[in-house]
Amino acid sequence: MTQEPARNIGVDLVRATEAAALSAGRWMGLGKREDADHAAAEAMYQALNTLEMDGHIVIGEEGKLGMHSPLDSGQRVGTGEGPEMDVVVDPIEGRNLLALGHPDAIAVAGIAPRGSMWSPAPAVYMEKIVVDRQAADALVPECMDAPAAWTLALVARVKNKEMRDMVAFLLDRPRHQDLIDEIRAAGARVILRSDGDVAGALLAATPGIGVDILMGVGAVPEGVIAACAVKSMGGGMLGRLAPQSDEERAAIEAAGLDTSQILRCHQLVSSDQVFFAATGITSGSLLSGVRYHGRKAETESLMVRCETGTRRVIRAEHLVG
Ligand code: FBP
Repeated sequence: MTQEPARNIGVDLVRATEAAALSAGRWMGLGKREDADHAAAEAMYQALNTLEMDGHIVIGEEGKLGMHSPLDSGQRVGTGEGPEMDVVVDPIEGRNLLALGHPDAIAVAGIAPRGSMWSPAPAVYMEKIVVDRQAADALVPECMDAPAAWTLALVARVKNKEMRDMVAFLLDRPRHQDLIDEIRAAGARVILRSDGDVAGALLAATPGIGVDILMGVGAVPEGVIAACAVKSMGGGMLGRLAPQSDEERAAIEAAGLDTSQILRCHQLVSSDQVFFAATGITSGSLLSGVRYHGRKAETESLMVRCETGTRRVIRAEHLVG
């Protein structure tokens, strides 16, 4: 019989994102993103091992550190007791943001029963659209290929907004230039960020915070992590593989993956027993970053549980060495 995750596993998951953030925060602005990531991955790994589960990292850190990480895909985490779970992690989402001391670097993790997370290795990039719960039903697969103005109009209509009130979040990349031009031509406004589309997805999925939609191409792991959060928050998400090089396209084809398939949120993460946690590393529009005062440090985290829709903001004070 499949075991269900314990109710408090989400709180335990927050301990893992807190541990990563507490470790990563020390590296803010030091320009050493790999060292920071290594330290944060180790801290998150140790904390994940206290969770009562047989966790399988389905999308992890491989390729990021230039060396083996305890959080690479395929690694097992947890006590080994309890339910089998898929685990997706990013100890530092926005490593450049942290290295430069910019806002909105966060530590994130999601867990869901084994087999419920989409894991399209060896794909690297995917196209994403994210909206909040009010606009979730308006998001249809056609939005992926329609002009941006059409999708924006659908979302604006259900949110009872004028186009000039709409705000779209995109990563600032040359690959998005046509999309940015389309959104501006439609009359909507744009937030362009250098990094961090999980934070962008969280902003787009949070009602009333000033971002109506996330659009564009980002990394696959960040997409699956975002799906854990968006699903738990009742938002809407579409995803589709978007290879950015001939090499990536060939690898995807060799793996038998379909680049035309458009996945909805419930296909990116199929179970309702999803938990998502994020802790701020640098302060941003979502969460405060880690603050150190002598032997104490403060963190701010978000924990969302899909089954109940509970969204907790957790401020914690930690004794640190
Ligand atoms: P890292 O923290 O792993 O460096 O990722 C940052 C990020 O901006 C993600 O939020 C985003 O999905 C991805 O990089 C986009 O990739 P690229 O920088 O190659 O466009």
